[in-house]
Amino acid sequence: MVIICDDLAALSREAAARFAHRAEEATAAQGRFSVALSGGTTPRALYALLAQNPWRARVPWAATHVFWGDERCVPPDHPDSNYRLAYQTLLAHVPIPAGNIHRLRGEIDPIVAASEYESVLRAAFGLRPGQLPRFDLILLGLGEDGHTASLFPGTAAVHERERLVVAQWVEKLKACRLTLTPPVLNAAAAILFLVAGGAKAAALRQVLSGDNRPDRYPAQVVRPADGDVTWLVDRAATGQLSS
Ligand code: 6PG
Repeated sequence: MVIICDDLAALSREAAARFAHRAEEATAAQGRFSVALSGGTTPRALYALLAQNPWRARVPWAATHVFWGDERCVPPDHPDSNYRLAYQTLLAHVPIPAGNIHRLRGEIDPIVAASEYESVLRAAFGLRPGQLPRFDLILLGLGEDGHTASLFPGTAAVHERERLVVAQWVEKLKACRLTLTPPVLNAAAAILFLVAGGAKAAALRQVLSGDNRPDRYPAQVVRPADGDVTWLVDRAATGQLSS
């Protein structure tokens, strides 16, 4: 489903309402809410809204477990850190138990960090070998090149079918990234894409209505077998979509 919002502020309000609803629904059904946060700049306004009432009061933070969909290979206090973004705008301002914050350790060897996070997921979701974690909600963004999480065009991570988390060198960034893999994204109960700005219009059109070329537009790989995908987009990002 694609929901068009007037601007980033309206998109963020809609995302906050959906986040809170999903949190309440999951906690009522199973006693906890597991969410994977996205990085970049788009979710910043959403995180700030969730740190304020009414959303701060509505989300059952004591039952909420926060993970990350991807992370840069930097320390948690680095300006590029997705953890730092979420901590400074949201997690430091809400009563979430420290043990419910499951950080991807970007500061250690990436191969070790990926393997360690797989163990974190297996423990947090009580997985048996071969089982996938089913997040109640995964927030995702969209890059201008069609990437999502840290699944970048032309990288092996886009085609990973066994691992839960991988470390991936991204040549265009000249940097390593840590990312959940397509099987984990596609095991989610709900995916919420947040896409804002005219710079994303071409990628959004390709992902939503172009030929299926996930290697070129990795966000196309997100097709949960038993989960819903909602695209929250602002009007500027729809500039190249047909009616
Ligand atoms: C990251 C994100 C990434 C992001 C897109 C969009 O670590 O950067 O997880 O997938 O969502 O690059 O980023 P913006 O919101 O900054 O446009």
